[in-house]
Amino acid sequence: MRTILPALLLTASALLTGAMPATAQDTGDAARGSKLSDTCMGCHGIAGYRNAYPSYSVPELAGQHPEYLYIALQGYKAQTRKHPTMYAQATTLSDQDMRDLTAFLAGSAPLKTGPAVDGPGKEKAVACVACHGEGGRSQMPNWPVLAGQKADYIEHALHQYKNGERKDPIMGAQVAALSDQDIRTLASYFAAQPGLQTAAYKKN
Ligand code: HEC
Ligand code: HEC
Repeated sequence: MRTILPALLLTASALLTGAMPATAQDTGDAARGSKLSDTCMGCHGIAGYRNAYPSYSVPELAGQHPEYLYIALQGYKAQTRKHPTMYAQATTLSDQDMRDLTAFLAGSAPLKTGPAVDGPGKEKAVACVACHGEGGRSQMPNWPVLAGQKADYIEHALHQYKNGERKDPIMGAQVAALSDQDIRTLASYFAAQPGLQTAAYKKN
C-alpha cells in the first residue's frame, strides 16, 4: 500500500494535468516568441494575406486564446489538421517555442470590442455560441474565438471538419447537418463581429 498509493496519486495528477486547459506554468514568454516570429509574420502579420491554393485568407491570430493556438500547432504537427506549410512550420518547433510564439501572436493586438453586429446568421449561430461565446467571443481558453475571423477561412475550416480533413470529434458533429449555404451564412455572421485582428509586429 505504501508504494502503491504515491504511484496512484502521480497517475491521477498526470491525468488531471493532461486534461486541464492552460495552467500558470504553461504560459509562454511573449518576448521570446516575438524573436521567433519573423517567419510567421511573413503570412500572419500581413493584413489580407491569402493561402495560395486553395485560395483563402490566412487566419487572424491576434486576440485569439494562446491555449487554442497551441492546440492548433500541435494538431498540424500530429497531422490531425492537414496543411503542408503549417506542418513544415510546426515540426521545427519545440513545445516551448509553441508556447512562446502563441503567447506573442495572441497578445500582439487586443481583441476588438464593440456592439454585436446583426446578420442573417444570428439564429443559426445560437447552436455555436454555447461554446464559442456570444457573438463568437469565446471565454474558454481551448475554444477558439470566431468573432472577426476571416469569413473564407471559417468556411474553409467548416468544410474541412465536414470532409474529415480536419479531425475534431466535437466540431465534426456540429457541422454534419450544415448545408453549404448554412456554412456561408454562419461564416459571414461571425466574421462581421468585432474581434480578432492581424498579428502586429514586435509589440514586446
Ligand atoms: C506561408 C504562410 C504561413 C506561414 C509562414 C505561417 N503560417 Fe500559420 N497558417 C497559414 C495558413 C494558410 C493557415 C491556415 C491553414 C489551415 O487551413 O488549417 C495557418 C494557420 C495557423 C494557425 C491556426 C490558426 C487557427 O485559427 O486555427 C496557427 C496557430 C498558426 N498558423 C501559427 C503559425 C506560426 C506560429 C508560424 C510561424 C512559426 C506560422 N503560422 C507560419 C499560413 C502560414
Ligand atoms: C460543444 C462546443 C462547440 C460547439 C457547440 C461548436 N463548436 Fe466550433 N469549435 C469547438 C472546439 C473545441 C473547436 C476547436 C477544435 C479543433 O481544435 O480543431 C472548435 C473550432 C471551430 C472552428 C475553427 C476555428 C479556427 O480558428 O480554426 C470554427 C470555424 C468553428 N468551431 C465554428 C463553429 C460553428 C459555426 C458552430 C455552430 C454550428 C460551432 N463551431 C459549434 C467547440 C464547439
